[in-house]
Amino acid sequence: MAQDKAQEDQTHPDVIEKLVSLCKQRGFVYPSSEIYGGLNAVYDFGPLGVRLRRNIRDRWWESMVGLRDDVEGIETAILMNPEVWVASGHVAGFTDPLVDCTGPCKKRWREDHLADERRARGKPPDAPGCPECGGALTPARQFNLMFKTFIGPVEEDAAQIWLRPETAQGMFVNFANVVNSTRRRLPFGIAQQGKAFRNEISPGNFVFRLREFELMEMEYFCKPGSDRELHEYWCAERFRWHVDVLGVRKANLRLRPHAKEELSHYSTATSDIEYRYPFGWGELEGVADRTDYDLKTHMEHSGRDLSYFDTETNERYVPYVIEPAVSTDRIFITLLVDAYDEEEVRGEKRVVLHLHPDVAPVQVAVLPLSKKADLTEPARRIEHDLRPHFSTMYDETQAIGRRYRRQDEIGTPLAITFDFDSLNDHAVTIRERDGMSQVRVPIDGLHAALRDQLEAGRKRARERANGGHDG
Ligand code: GAP
Repeated sequence: MAQDKAQEDQTHPDVIEKLVSLCKQRGFVYPSSEIYGGLNAVYDFGPLGVRLRRNIRDRWWESMVGLRDDVEGIETAILMNPEVWVASGHVAGFTDPLVDCTGPCKKRWREDHLADERRARGKPPDAPGCPECGGALTPARQFNLMFKTFIGPVEEDAAQIWLRPETAQGMFVNFANVVNSTRRRLPFGIAQQGKAFRNEISPGNFVFRLREFELMEMEYFCKPGSDRELHEYWCAERFRWHVDVLGVRKANLRLRPHAKEELSHYSTATSDIEYRYPFGWGELEGVADRTDYDLKTHMEHSGRDLSYFDTETNERYVPYVIEPAVSTDRIFITLLVDAYDEEEVRGEKRVVLHLHPDVAPVQVAVLPLSKKADLTEPARRIEHDLRPHFSTMYDETQAIGRRYRRQDEIGTPLAITFDFDSLNDHAVTIRERDGMSQVRVPIDGLHAALRDQLEAGRKRARERANGGHDG
């Protein structure tokens, strides 16, 4: 049922191509080192992209750390002692099965993606040969996804280290440091945001699967035996967050428990929060029960004691861990896809991003009706006054209708117009993005009016996310 509803809601199958172009034109996303031809699956973020990403990170930090009294934030280094990755199992096991096509296309594939790739090309999932040209495939070989580099001046095996493929290990190896420095008692979490690197074999779909991306992970340490219940709690909490805080439409989300053979080497239970992308259902966030796997393996390899003494029960044990993990990039593409809409307004196409007001890169645009100094100077002053309170943008180029359309396209919930009447009535027009309604408000009541309108926008976003009703 939920799936059928989602199919109805996803009305723009070619939305990714449209977003690639919109993101480049409007300054959300640029291909990395573009003037040299780019670098596959690596992107740079422009002025609006940076604003959107900062909002995503802030919303995540607020809900996972700031508003909770049981989670501490840390930041650990991208470069770590290479023993970490031996202990964690990544050196031996962080691999994907790679196959090469021996036919004309000569493409390289992940063996476990072949069925999906065939499906995406309208072929039966078990069709023989390569998804692109039908050529024969080589047997699979295991390919490690970690990027290697060298520390110090000599490129020898002893100096080889890795770029971290997840931020989680930085939190496990600091477990005892955090407990000792904060006097935390279980259950409690350690959270961090930071770059991770994976040499993905089949990256793509814009910023969906990247080789350099930003993870936001939280390790929630708990007593063994309480893990199943906490796993369920975090699955529900993270699902709720995407809907209520980010405004992602519930009908496009589902929670999918992993089958046994899908589980990572460290996990006994994982559920993915999946989104219905134009290219099919895909992982947005993973919530894993990592058991005591990581702390135990680091105890064995480092010789340090990472167990915990429970003063309530007088027991010593190695905590279990529940881990919600998501990338800023995966949320970024999800928000854009979910917010994108095209409408016909007075015979013209209007592209609009229905972004939640708390993630929109610009909340309030200030637009003088004309470029005359009588209007631009006071309009600039208004924009400066609003800056400490809202995320703003000032724009005086082109006709007002064009400027409204540009703001719709980048998802700005409110636009203020300062016109010739404003000089006499000391009032401005606030135009709202979704319904395009306009109201005239006195300048000295502008802050309060904007705050009210943004609150109304949040309510609308909640209704949209919940399929027409407010939660
Ligand atoms: N520490 C657990 C872990 O890293 P994962 O399922 O490999 O688990 C967690 O990744 C999340 O990171 C995914 O749900 C997705 O949001 C994001 N992610 C994983 N690989 C990615 C990639 N190549 N590009 C962008 N985001 C990625």
